[in-house]
Amino acid sequence: MPIQILADPLIDQIAAGEVIERPASVAKELIENALDAGARRIWIDVERGGIELLRVRDDGAGMSPGELPLALARHATSKIASLDDLERVATLGFRGEALPSIASVARLRLASRPAAASAAGEVDAAEGRIRGPRPASHPPGTTVEVRELFHKVPARRKFLRAEATEFQHVLRTVTRLALSRFDVAFTLAHNRREQFALPVAAGRLEQESRIGRLLGAEFVANSLHVAHEHAGLRLEGWIGLPSRARAQPDRQYLFVNGRMVRDRLLVNAARLGYQDVMYGGRHPAWLLYLSLDPMQVDVNAHPQKLELRFRDARAVHDFVFRTLQHALATTRPGGAGAAPAPLAGLLRGIPDQLPRGLGLGEAEAGAYAAQQSGDAGGVSEAASPSTEAPLGHAVAQLHGIYILAQTADGIVLVDMHAAHERILYERLKSAADSGNAARQALLVPAVVETTDADAALAMQRRDELAAAGLVVDRIGPATLAIREVPIVLAGQDIAAVLCDALADIGLEGGTHRIAERQNELLANIACRSAVRAHRTLSIVEMNSLLRDMERTERSGQCSHGRPTWTRVTLAELDRLFMRGR
Ligand SMILES: Nc1ncnc2c1ncn2[C@@H]1O[C@H](COP(=O)(O)OP(=O)(O)OP(=O)(O)O)[C@@H](O)[C@H]1O
Ligand SMILES: [Mg+2]
Repeated sequence: MPIQILADPLIDQIAAGEVIERPASVAKELIENALDAGARRIWIDVERGGIELLRVRDDGAGMSPGELPLALARHATSKIASLDDLERVATLGFRGEALPSIASVARLRLASRPAAASAAGEVDAAEGRIRGPRPASHPPGTTVEVRELFHKVPARRKFLRAEATEFQHVLRTVTRLALSRFDVAFTLAHNRREQFALPVAAGRLEQESRIGRLLGAEFVANSLHVAHEHAGLRLEGWIGLPSRARAQPDRQYLFVNGRMVRDRLLVNAARLGYQDVMYGGRHPAWLLYLSLDPMQVDVNAHPQKLELRFRDARAVHDFVFRTLQHALATTRPGGAGAAPAPLAGLLRGIPDQLPRGLGLGEAEAGAYAAQQSGDAGGVSEAASPSTEAPLGHAVAQLHGIYILAQTADGIVLVDMHAAHERILYERLKSAADSGNAARQALLVPAVVETTDADAALAMQRRDELAAAGLVVDRIGPATLAIREVPIVLAGQDIAAVLCDALADIGLEGGTHRIAERQNELLANIACRSAVRAHRTLSIVEMNSLLRDMERTERSGQCSHGRPTWTRVTLAELDRLFMRGR
């Protein structure tokens, strides 16, 4: 075939292939347009999973009748006019492609009225032909109606799933967008049944109630709130407690300057933030909002704008990593992230409301608890409920594995090995960190054959590697010699650690690999040195372990991420035994 210029409708259909995959992608584009138009309320109506109909109405700025055909023209946008604008773009859209792409694969009707105008107009498009504008009746704002998606593109239609599945995708997309903008109200209906109507959420409480409505009430209950700002970067959000991690990474939401993204760099930074407290193969839940100067991030890196390029990727990565790591250090009994592992199912099926007038009154029970904890095991520290330590006082060792402790308002169980392991691990780490010079010179340098590029990179980052404990010299174009190593890593396969670290630096601009490897080994040492099961501990020893736990960062989980303690409150015990108060 000779070279020829493609027909316009075909160009649009090809463009549609990049961004319009299924009804959920249409929902994303239309809702993003509504947000860009400054809408305060957005209504989304879906029929038959969005294959039959997807309608988005907003109360935003609207368009004049004359603009309507332009909105459907390829590469027509009101959002940028120059390369300069593109570099600082703050709107979600800027390509001027979404509406023409959708119109090329579906039937589209667009009705709009600018806020200040007295009359509305509408256009429709089918098979690439635009009809209108003609007068219409519409309140200030815009409605876009998309019908029969892919009805003329059987190849794409084949890939659509059952209506219920397509609706699940739409729901997931609307959920993410509703999480991205608490200041906008969202209403979603499927087959004329309302799924949710979310009012504007102004303060943190209202935001948490929206999150609860969309992601379930446990999400917030089992999360820590974080908010941190540094050098032009701001991170706010909710991060799931390690003890409530999930089998799948299906509760991870990330927004950068209000845009939902799936950015590898940021996901990796969050993973690193959890690395020390997460049980292998589990995934934390998180909902994170990063804001930074739009000039510092390139959003034009992916057709669906899901991936980003940061100007200073390293600074962003470290900021996110450190913010999470710092927040998670409070996962110790008595700390902000103290929620212990749940006693699964213990209280399931027991009614909240119990008949009153059975058993002890509240005051009596409180006094009883205080008296008991004072007596427990003849412990010297006298306990009054208000000043009592979060883990209370050891009462007994059970089956040679668990410590049973009594607190002012319940009981606590501690896995003594797991707890001791974390305490030792944190001590070893701080010893390793404080001795900045905790390096050991190798008798015979380890020679590593690598590439010219990696050898050059190692020299550029020589100081940084040395700070992490690796002193490296280049002894040939592609040959490195490791002269000093962190003491903990002596005798390990240090060449592999160096190669991995260089690969990280190449990809992410920095590396945590050496520290990670070092921590792995320290964790193993801690595990081997921690008290073994069946060693009998005295009450004094048990109490000192409990106090150590309260002081130790991250002691809510062992160095492998397993939980170290759990608790049952008196109120829960009362429910369990149906003791009314
Ligand atoms: N809901 C709306 N309210 C007001 N104006 C709208 C609305 N939807 C679209 N427009 C106008 O139509 C233009 C084209 O929309 P379209 O989604 O095709 O492109 P875009 O949003 O500029 O860029 P992108 O292709 O990246 O989404 C927009 O630039 C905007 O001016
Ligand atoms: Mg758009």
